[in-house]
Amino acid sequence: MTSDLWDGHDYIARVFDDWVADASSAFQAVEVDGVVVGLHRLRPYAPGLMWYEGLRVATSHQRQGIARAMLDSAIAEAREQGFAELRLATYNEIASHLFESAGFKPLLDIRWWRAPRVEGGEPANMPDPVEAEKLWKMAASSPGFEMYNGVSADLNGARNLEAAELGRLASRGMLRVAPGGRALAGLRRPWSDNVAVAFLAGRGAALRDLLFALRYEADADGADHVTVALPRGHPAADDMRATGYDFANAEDTAFIYGLQLKPAANT
Ligand SMILES: CC(C)(COP(=O)(O)OP(=O)(O)OC[C@H]1O[C@@H](n2cnc3c(N)ncnc32)[C@H](O)[C@@H]1OP(=O)(O)O)[C@@H](O)C(=O)NCCC(=O)NCCS
Repeated sequence: MTSDLWDGHDYIARVFDDWVADASSAFQAVEVDGVVVGLHRLRPYAPGLMWYEGLRVATSHQRQGIARAMLDSAIAEAREQGFAELRLATYNEIASHLFESAGFKPLLDIRWWRAPRVEGGEPANMPDPVEAEKLWKMAASSPGFEMYNGVSADLNGARNLEAAELGRLASRGMLRVAPGGRALAGLRRPWSDNVAVAFLAGRGAALRDLLFALRYEADADGADHVTVALPRGHPAADDMRATGYDFANAEDTAFIYGLQLKPAANT
């Protein structure tokens, strides 16, 4: 069903068996005359948060309202299960239109930056969880942090950015900090051979040191490069350029959307 999408490079084929086997999420299909023509998945990924992914309609059955009906049923299911918010990521303009017309609000407009590994330096420090939560004040007040709109730019599940999230990441070895706690980077699970950053905080020399230390880390880990997701227009762009990062692909943006499922008074 997905072989004619993106020159046969759709990720669904790769994850299909895992998704079928995963009892903690709902991987659902739509059939017409006994043939599967639509897919999607609902995955609980953080307290109160449901992730929507893998929406596909077979080329032969597009423009008949199938995606809209699937999305409506996903929203109803997440709401019935008591989730506070449904979130998703998309690169696709057609899909963006569909999601916006169903009431989703854009949370993040992501630009990708990329730098090759560098040999010979020290990777950044990993704070412990207690120390990490104390960095929240610095992070929240750093320039451009509000452009993340309170969510990490993680396309596998955009979590809420808050002090507890810094602690959670630190406990998994996924937070990096500059000396003196003056800049930090939250990592996400990479998709390829790289170190992947889902959010940055800090400014100036401390942030630049950290961005360079990530390039050393890529080398120490035997990874090829570092990828950093920054909201469009984020002020760290100058620091990125100064430390050898460039746009991975100027055309390649991704949006994260969110839909509140409960009336404001209950959230
Ligand atoms: C995006 C996709 C799921 C839409 O499926 P679909 O069943 O054709 O969509 P629907 O018929 O329910 O249409 C829903 C809305 O999408 C928009 N839309 C769908 N196809 C479109 C097209 N070819 N051009 C412009 N708008 C389009 C329209 O706004 C439409 O609403 P309307 O008909 O009321 O104007 C399908 O095109 C697809 O599988 N694409 C490839 C995979 C993909 O990009 N998935 C989304 C990743 S998050």
